[in-house]
Amino acid sequence: MPGAAGCARPVDVARTQEWQAEGRGMNGAFHLLPPSASDAAGRYDTLMLVEFLVTGFVALGVAFMIVYFSVRYRRDSDADRSAAPAGGRKLEIAWIAIPLLLFLCAFAWAAYDYARLYRDPPGAMPVFVVAKQWMWKLEHANGRREIDELHLPLGQPVKLVMTSQDVIHSFYVPAFRIKQDVVPGRYTTISFTPTEAGEFHLFCAEYCGTEHAAMRGRVVVMRPDQFAAWLQQGDAREGMAARGFALYRRYGCSGCHEAQSSVHAPDLHGLLGRTVHLQDGRSLVADEAYVRDSVLLPKKEVVAGYAPIMPSFAGQIAEEDLLAIIEYLRSTGGGDARAGH
Ligand code: CUA
Repeated sequence: MPGAAGCARPVDVARTQEWQAEGRGMNGAFHLLPPSASDAAGRYDTLMLVEFLVTGFVALGVAFMIVYFSVRYRRDSDADRSAAPAGGRKLEIAWIAIPLLLFLCAFAWAAYDYARLYRDPPGAMPVFVVAKQWMWKLEHANGRREIDELHLPLGQPVKLVMTSQDVIHSFYVPAFRIKQDVVPGRYTTISFTPTEAGEFHLFCAEYCGTEHAAMRGRVVVMRPDQFAAWLQQGDAREGMAARGFALYRRYGCSGCHEAQSSVHAPDLHGLLGRTVHLQDGRSLVADEAYVRDSVLLPKKEVVAGYAPIMPSFAGQIAEEDLLAIIEYLRSTGGGDARAGH
């Protein structure tokens, strides 16, 4: 991978051995499934169990009939073959319609659960994830940063906003039953609520280069009061929103987007969660990805009533800076103004 050598991190042998010794989260015992530690995990486990039972029941039924008919109608059996049916329209319709209905139910159920991963629950706490070869960099709204570790409060809905600095990675926490590609050049998000305190594996689930297998960490779910205390520890940094405001001025956003500016540019206060009408007639609800595209690809979605004069900042702004600016915009209020800052 180009540029990989420069930022290569030695494999942490001690930590790897410690993990193997502990079998972290697994206790060495055999488990059919990893621990179930999020609302998504409960939903998926139920779905999987029901699908397993339905398909298992059908498979057993078919196997039983094969054996039964093989014995009953073997060549020299005295079974009555005088009135053999020539066809069975009703039977044929039944074996087409019933499986079709079952599959459609499974599809609808799974699609509903899947869609819930991408709908932020009200009050979701944003956490920002930047992946690179080969580490996870995480930042909380108050500016607390972590590497290869993610601390979360128990029972609080979380929304991860993720991007990559180099290649495609995948954020995978088996205990939460979540796995989401982390893609350079755009944001992906995923929402869930931790339902159990403890430590859980975090893996990269997309082959991303030599040390892909070492690109892992842990998720620590704490009681809300413990989490609040943890969040305040560490090197005192300004919150993301404050840093974002400084960047908002430094990159010159404020020069055009402030109300008193002489340039005719949209007002960004309370933008996140607001419905935006575009020049081409479409409308959308402004989210993190929309802000990102507006900064890097300003011609893509031009707001109705404004000239497309915004310059692109592609290649000039670091991912972390862009996330901070988004946090600043979130802090200015609007429909999505729920994050602490
Ligand atoms: Cu990152 Cu595999």
